[in-house]
Amino acid sequence: MQRLDKLIASQGTRSRSETVRLIRSGQVTVNGAVCRDPSAKYDADTCVVTIAGQQLSYRQYVYIMMNKPAGILCVSRDPKAPTVVDLLPQEMKRKNLFPAGRLDKDTVGLVLLTDDGDLAHRILAPKREIVKRYQVRLDAPLSDEHCRAFAKGITLADGTRCLPAELLILENGEQPLAEVRIMEGRYHQIKRMFGVLDRGVVWLKRISIGKLELDPSLSEGESRFLTDEECGFFE
Ligand code: URA
Repeated sequence: MQRLDKLIASQGTRSRSETVRLIRSGQVTVNGAVCRDPSAKYDADTCVVTIAGQQLSYRQYVYIMMNKPAGILCVSRDPKAPTVVDLLPQEMKRKNLFPAGRLDKDTVGLVLLTDDGDLAHRILAPKREIVKRYQVRLDAPLSDEHCRAFAKGITLADGTRCLPAELLILENGEQPLAEVRIMEGRYHQIKRMFGVLDRGVVWLKRISIGKLELDPSLSEGESRFLTDEECGFFE
């Protein structure tokens, strides 16, 4: 059970004071009857709330996919630079949103934003071995030798041993395009893996996290809520 003003304001689109004003002015109904008491308590999972005639679809947590552009920090807040949370449209913003798994500032592609700490834990826990797929453009040609090194497990310059990973060459040449599949999320991992093989990453895009694939209809900078089916991928 929670207070009506808190229940509505937790959905992120209205401040608590605006919510209280709406309730007091008689614009909010609960289970078909006007409720003018902001402190009245209801079960958010079962009550039907309308605001100015529009039904509120209550979500305890939100799950958002973003196609992150380059130049944006993958954190909740930063005093100096724009973040993935800053980039969300107003109607998707909620308190406590954070990116579940980080990308570097210059990396683009799939970021999952949520306020559900358990989900983030499930995605990031190394034991779950969730595969993340990336497309990567490099600064020099690739060979089967590089693919074998990924499959064996690369040891980074600082001695960290990475788990076996997959490198698939999609287009070879002076600036080859490849797909990388890793189960970990170490700091700058892909750049450091290629660094050991004397290759520089010139462009990097995450295209999936487990079964969740970046929606190709999202342009860079755009976001959408996950569907119910997509939310089920991480249970
Ligand atoms: N590996 C990297 O080097 N950078 C990223 O942003 C993600 C994986």
